[in-house]
Amino acid sequence: MQILGIDIGGSGIKGAIVDTTTGDLLTEKFRLPTPRPALPGEVAKVVHQIVDHFNWKGEVGAGFPTPLSHGKCLSGGNLHPDWKGVQADELFRSVTGLEFTVINDADAAAEAEMHFGAGKGKDGLVAVITLGTGIGSGLFFNGALIPNSELGHVTYKGEPFEKYAADSIRKKEDLSYTKWGKRLNKYFKHIELILSPDLFIIGGGASKKMDKFKDEIKIRTRIIPAENKNEAGIIGAAVGAFDEVK
Ligand code: BGC
Repeated sequence: MQILGIDIGGSGIKGAIVDTTTGDLLTEKFRLPTPRPALPGEVAKVVHQIVDHFNWKGEVGAGFPTPLSHGKCLSGGNLHPDWKGVQADELFRSVTGLEFTVINDADAAAEAEMHFGAGKGKDGLVAVITLGTGIGSGLFFNGALIPNSELGHVTYKGEPFEKYAADSIRKKEDLSYTKWGKRLNKYFKHIELILSPDLFIIGGGASKKMDKFKDEIKIRTRIIPAENKNEAGIIGAAVGAFDEVK
């Protein structure tokens, strides 16, 4: 099935038409910057522009960067506090006239990895951790998504861990990869203690740079980079929508 996948992130909103059987992008990606402030109405306008760019009339799947339950935002996350309580799927439907399935962005990226990437065929408990503006998580048990986990919000010194170890913090504090890797080591040790997963997959922009920090991560669980890289959010959003409509 062909579905328009849209990855809504803290810095950019990008889309492409996806073949949900193969996980291939059938078009070039189209990206627009996330409006700032990222108010609901403003973000919805950009989503509309993406739909128009593809002249799309079918199903749409979107990955959304806040805690979510059944398409409703539980907080504004890294976007804007006004998102709290907004039924994102209904907002996008009312603006575009199309059916939307909205899932958490890290759940979307994890779906793509489990279907078509580094997690394909992996049983047991797999934790996909995305390192970007925030830290997101997608948990799978024997190939089935356990939705809406928020492992970036486990606390460290009274703050969400993502405020200490996200890729955006590395950039903001100009940390070397070694220093950042040491922070990530604390993070992964903590998550390992809580979950005892069988496998960690690192997603988000940082998956491309894993060679630069992997030596600092000293845990017993196997840890590997995602394969779909930047496209995972788009592919997984489409797959998430396909799971809804099939
Ligand atoms: C949000 C998550 C999201 C992650 C990555 C966190 O701040 O709480 O829902 O998956 O950022 O965007």
